[in-house]
Amino acid sequence: MSDTVGRMLLREMHLDELSRVLELEADPDAAPFILRWSDGDHRRSLSDPDEAHLTLEQDGQMVGFVLLAGLRSPDHNIELRRIVVSPPGCGLGAVALELVIARAFEQLHAHRLWLDVKTNNDRAQRAYRRAGFVQEGVLRDARLTDGIYESLIVMSILEAERSKVRPSRRLT
Ligand SMILES: CC(C)(COP(=O)(O)OP(=O)(O)OC[C@H]1O[C@@H](n2cnc3c(N)ncnc32)[C@H](O)[C@@H]1OP(=O)(O)O)[C@@H](O)C(=O)NCCC(=O)NCCS
Repeated sequence: MSDTVGRMLLREMHLDELSRVLELEADPDAAPFILRWSDGDHRRSLSDPDEAHLTLEQDGQMVGFVLLAGLRSPDHNIELRRIVVSPPGCGLGAVALELVIARAFEQLHAHRLWLDVKTNNDRAQRAYRRAGFVQEGVLRDARLTDGIYESLIVMSILEAERSKVRPSRRLT
């Protein structure tokens, strides 16, 4: 199953792409903002029918990846667990989020697509807001990273809110 917006394709990840995923997670642009996984963590998740590993491809290159969870949620609540694009800050995320939102609501029949994002991750918060996510609340000191507590903002978009989403800045 795959989807396209502009030049970007969202498709199921191949096992041999995991090394690139680990590289993207280790990139200094991404590492401070995500929970990094080992190869084994990714393999376990890949074989879990409740979760999805998706590749973002542009012009034949892997420019990022997306992890979803809750595909079998009885509440139709799907988590956008992780998204990483490379390079960040160039509009790739806007297109990627449009694809993810379409996948979640149109193919996976989500009612609510939700995520959490660190309070210091302004770039991601801007990208999420532009895509139509709204803030639900703050999980204070929810994560302990290298001895420092970090708070997480929970954001979501509901099926009924999709029409309000601004179109992404298309890449040509
Ligand atoms: C989060 C992520 C997927 C967003 O994708 P992106 O391609 O960077 O996003 P876009 O370029 O489409 O939009 C980024 C927004 O932040 C702004 N921005 C860009 N660089 C920024 C920076 N350093 N600080 C704050 N805002 C920034 C852009 O102007 C844009 O805002 P706008 O839509 O209001 O104009 C991407 O930045 C990424 O992979 N980051 C590293 C991993 C990460 O943080 N993942 C999310 C964890 S919750």
